[in-house]
Amino acid sequence: MAIPESFVQTIIDRADIVDVVSRYVKLRKSGANYFGLCPFHGEKTPSFSVSPDKQIFHCFGCSEGGGVISFIMKIESLNFQEAVKFLADMYGLEMPENDADDEGRRRRERMLALNKEAARFFHATLNSEIGMGAMEYFRNRGLSNRTITNFGLGFAPESWDALTGAMLRKGFTKTELSDAGLASKNKSGGIYDRFRNRVMFPIIDVRGNVIAFGGRVLDDSLPKYINSSDTLVYNKSRNLFAINIAKKTKRKNFILAEGYMDVIALHQAGFDNAIASLGTAFTPEQARLIARFKDEVVICYDSDEAGQKATARAMEILQKNAINVRVLKVPNAKDPDEFIKKNGAVGFEKLLEKPQVGNEYRLSVIKNKHNLDIDEEKIAYMKEAINYVAGIYSDVEREIYARNIAADTGVSAAAVIKEIEKTRNSKGRRDRKAYEKDAASPVKNSQPKSRELKYENVRSAKCEEGVLAIILKNDEFIPKTMEKLTSEMFSSDFLGKIYETIVGKYNEHESISLHGIVNFLEPVESAHITSLCTTYRYPANGLENALDDCIDTIRTEYIKRNSEEQDPMLELIRKKKEWGK
Ligand code: GTP
Ligand code: MN
Repeated sequence: MAIPESFVQTIIDRADIVDVVSRYVKLRKSGANYFGLCPFHGEKTPSFSVSPDKQIFHCFGCSEGGGVISFIMKIESLNFQEAVKFLADMYGLEMPENDADDEGRRRRERMLALNKEAARFFHATLNSEIGMGAMEYFRNRGLSNRTITNFGLGFAPESWDALTGAMLRKGFTKTELSDAGLASKNKSGGIYDRFRNRVMFPIIDVRGNVIAFGGRVLDDSLPKYINSSDTLVYNKSRNLFAINIAKKTKRKNFILAEGYMDVIALHQAGFDNAIASLGTAFTPEQARLIARFKDEVVICYDSDEAGQKATARAMEILQKNAINVRVLKVPNAKDPDEFIKKNGAVGFEKLLEKPQVGNEYRLSVIKNKHNLDIDEEKIAYMKEAINYVAGIYSDVEREIYARNIAADTGVSAAAVIKEIEKTRNSKGRRDRKAYEKDAASPVKNSQPKSRELKYENVRSAKCEEGVLAIILKNDEFIPKTMEKLTSEMFSSDFLGKIYETIVGKYNEHESISLHGIVNFLEPVESAHITSLCTTYRYPANGLENALDDCIDTIRTEYIKRNSEEQDPMLELIRKKKEWGK
């Protein structure tokens, strides 16, 4: 059951953070704030602070932080709703029975209904006369009618108002269309179709809701794909393409590919366990989604260098989430789609019989980098391989790989094993060193603690942080900021979302406060934003100048990014970089 926002607000107003935290941590007042020993990491000197006026907590040691609800979530290991209930009990407040007034939920339902209608529209258009060219495109790529229907593929015609017109007639509003990312707004307040002359791939979640779309050009023009940006119902880092079908597979694992077309080709060839991360760097949330269904994944990314780098990254994240990884590199083809076209389902089935174990794959990559006929290279290989093996959890696996390394280099297995154990013992020390190095590097230091929030454009993101810190402190700056800055201009989805929340509250004449915002965020997000507002160095004079500078930089970076997207060459480079991560 969704809890009405108004009730959450009541809880936040009622449950004083100093009072709540005091039930767990002994606090001592010092200046305007309270300090105590952090309950979230072991420490002997207090670096855990609670601010009664901001109603937030922040640990200068471990960077944990947030509002009163985040505190309870963390310390009692509860989810958001459970934490609200917990606090309601603590303060003797009655949880509201029905959530009929939940505006957010109503908006989400409307958006899902709109997406479904839009998918129907695109699919019908594909099957109509206007869709003939698109149909031919799919045919040329080998898709059957059954596949097209199964995936609900469609076509967005070359028109500025085909979809918007049809949806407005169905009773959806302009705002709903633009909120759903299906239409863009023009300067005069009108809207126009965002997807034009593209074949359309609906993205459907585990529950079968159409939550977003990808649209591909029919030729070689760029950008090749346009994907929905994040909306109320879509968060690209939390979803996987085709999970709605793959979750029902009888096969024992999932095949993880890069693109829409790879997954569709795999399904058509009978591999109904294929899913795609859709180009975005694979995320821990996606790993957790997979873990709900399977404990093994076969990564089958593109065979180019970017694909192989992305493999290493996805592998690491999957393994951290206790998912066994195997890796399948398609031979003599750039991706699974092309491989299947050449070798058919039988060819792919054969490959699937013996995909490499993830660790084996990584070690083979390390081995291939070195020419083992040369002694120095042999040593370099050994060092790198030993370092990798030292990080493997299983004793048995470590021993097996140690033997392989020994055989590769002619060194005795006992010596290799000894080196591995030595490396393991000093690993704790090295991790600490690496951490210190990180802290000394300004760019890395500018990154949020949590990798989930990683900034793509640090320069812009730093200024986005500045804007948020300043307007959260002085809300009289909000109207002028709103004139120059939209959330779209933010390079970080997460910071943009917070900005949007602030603007939304301002427009609704709601009061704006840090604790009114942090309590509604994911834990890693609220920790980051609390830390930001606690440690941000406000310029002693000229807050407004600082704000203007930040806004200018964000706008400049935004314009840069957008003009890059028009330039095919830069777009290509950007794409390669993005996939390379
Ligand atoms: P085709 O086979 O050429 O149709 O594409 P694909 O599905 O094999 O995709 P590719 O391997 O080129 O890229 C993998 C995924 O990255 C795609 O499915 C898209 O989700 C995404 N992607 C590719 N190109 C772009 C782009 O220009 N912009 C955006 N936003 N995403 C892209
Ligand atoms: Mn492809």
